[in-house]
Amino acid sequence: MKNTSIGIIGLGYVGLPLAVAFASKYQVIGFDINEIRIKELNKGFDSTNELTPGQLSKVMGCSLKLTTVLEDVSDCTTFIVTVPTPVTSSKSPDLTPVIKATESVSKVLKKRDTVVYESTVYPGVTEEVCVPILEEKTGLKFNEDFFVGYSPERINPGDKKHTITKITKVVSGSTPETLKNLSALYGSIIEAGIYEAPTIKTAEAAKVIENTQRDINIAFVNELSIIFSKMGIDTHEVLKAAGTKWNFLNFFPGLVGGHCIGVDPYYLAFKSEALGYTPEMILAGRRINDSMPTFIVSQIVKHLLKQNKTSQNAKALILGATFKENCPDLRNSKVVDLFHELKEFGFKADIFDPEADPETFLKEYGFQKLSTLSKNQYDVLILAVSHDSFKELNPKELIKEGGVVFDVKGFYKDKDFLYL
Ligand SMILES: NC(=O)c1ccc[n+]([C@@H]2O[C@H](COP(=O)([O-])OP(=O)(O)OC[C@H]3O[C@@H](n4cnc5c(N)ncnc54)[C@H](O)[C@@H]3O)[C@@H](O)[C@H]2O)c1
Repeated sequence: MKNTSIGIIGLGYVGLPLAVAFASKYQVIGFDINEIRIKELNKGFDSTNELTPGQLSKVMGCSLKLTTVLEDVSDCTTFIVTVPTPVTSSKSPDLTPVIKATESVSKVLKKRDTVVYESTVYPGVTEEVCVPILEEKTGLKFNEDFFVGYSPERINPGDKKHTITKITKVVSGSTPETLKNLSALYGSIIEAGIYEAPTIKTAEAAKVIENTQRDINIAFVNELSIIFSKMGIDTHEVLKAAGTKWNFLNFFPGLVGGHCIGVDPYYLAFKSEALGYTPEMILAGRRINDSMPTFIVSQIVKHLLKQNKTSQNAKALILGATFKENCPDLRNSKVVDLFHELKEFGFKADIFDPEADPETFLKEYGFQKLSTLSKNQYDVLILAVSHDSFKELNPKELIKEGGVVFDVKGFYKDKDFLYL
């Protein structure tokens, strides 16, 4: 393994920390098609906030080189693909980035090389979609001339405790020897240890069900909050009471966005439907979670009506725009749905999120986010994302007298606020 040189294809939330971790032991070349990202990283700035300039500068220029030129990875012997796996507007898997990255790898693939996929996919993508591309474009023979593996990534952006080397890594390979080699390669950097999956499809399925399970569990508590709101029961109090049983699972209602939990179930559902089975629970979970912005706004409007107030021209402030706490990632955030729902009811809505980059926010939302907050301005305040920095805010100071606070995350634990 001493001569192993690793090419990482795609340097986002997953690829960059992986590249830096491998660079502690190996020569690593990181390749990305995004020139701005590479320029920023080469200056020591990681816009995902996963790595500090110090962590980058330790390896940059010595064991780690970052590039937008494909030929720079041509001497690598192991390629690891960490590109996005989004869904289309009709919620089908969009494998374009995986296919394009595979085509790029095929231009530099040599005999005895190994290609590992880390992107989250449905079972079968590595062997049924990617391998045929690699064979066709290179003329090389699978499992004779080149080998593949699949190793899902389990990082949790914004989580500084469960970082890449501290999470057990599931590894699989197309031959027993490939599995042994990949297990040793990953094992040399992952402190938490390696789990060898028996097949590539097992490893692909394991990852996609981790996120699907989370989605379904959150959908269950979201559904409970819809039921209990009709009964006038506080869902958080119910969950606290039920949580005293040893085997009650600890999940809380909320918005499910981002490009993992809210997306991966569609990958599994797609493959299932292609095989003739329409998954009931998986898609029901998705529908419930996607309906939560509408439910939250309906609760607020009902509350205003009870006070003989209207939503027309009422001023609303949303705290948080990113898809999760302490993370700058705005992609597929359900806060944008919340915002549009408020607008439909005639609210004038502002968003405040110090974690989000102003330019990316403008691109994603089409308007400017607030840069400062003023007191006594709002009829409604919605805490949508529980960034640590919001602990310093006092929502009661931001609303007008008689205003209402909807605490989606149960963050402030104030008895005067509305909750899911
Ligand atoms: N972000 C997470 O929390 C997380 C966790 C576990 C698994 N995953 C999975 O890992 C994969 C990557 O996710 P991410 O969050 O790192 O995505 P990302 O969007 O942050 O990064 C992907 C990078 O790949 C680059 N890219 C796109 N197409 C390319 C191509 N053809 N060649 C080279 N580079 C290309 C993009 O420019 C981008 O920099 C996805 O499948 C995702 O579901 C993500």
